[in-house]
Amino acid sequence: MVEFEKSQTKRNLARAFAGECQDGARYQFLAQQAKADGENYMMDLLKMLAKNEMAHAKVFYDFILKYGKCEKNIDIEAGFPVTPYALEPGLKLAADAEFSQFDNVYPAFARIARDEGYDDVADQFLRIATVEDCHNKQLRELYSKLKHNKLHKEPSPTKWKCSKCGYEETAKQPQKTCPLCNYAVGYYMIKLSDN
Ligand SMILES: [Fe+2]
Ligand SMILES: [Fe+2]
Repeated sequence: MVEFEKSQTKRNLARAFAGECQDGARYQFLAQQAKADGENYMMDLLKMLAKNEMAHAKVFYDFILKYGKCEKNIDIEAGFPVTPYALEPGLKLAADAEFSQFDNVYPAFARIARDEGYDDVADQFLRIATVEDCHNKQLRELYSKLKHNKLHKEPSPTKWKCSKCGYEETAKQPQKTCPLCNYAVGYYMIKLSDN
């Protein structure tokens, strides 16, 4: 096993921790924008993704605590992407970043961790990568539906559910306000293939 202080895995864990914290913050910002745009279901989903990212951040932080000496600071070089608040570009960039974590970054970190003798770290990088793939698919579907004005429309009758009161109805397009609780259409669940 490569000594943790000298390992690339230590730096990769710190990078992954920083990246997950940033993802969590950006999803909170996007959730605020979704609320401002009246897309309340999207706001709920983005808040859930933000919680997922904080849980991932903790997994990486816990490994640094487990293997690292009690150090005050770890210096890393990392990218700090800045994405717009606007939902359409924000969702697209977020989906692309998730795909890259799933397809490239975390599998590479897992291989390095395995080579350096940290199998437990490698396994968690791979598990988290599968979640990032789900995030990518959810965000990409939201982006595509928003871009084509299909968030609240389906080509064939579909079940819509009000996320406020639980009322369900089957239609190509839900009513503008929920017939039960009167909340705006943004409270209706949209159909997401991974949900
Ligand atoms: Fe994550
Ligand atoms: Fe993610």
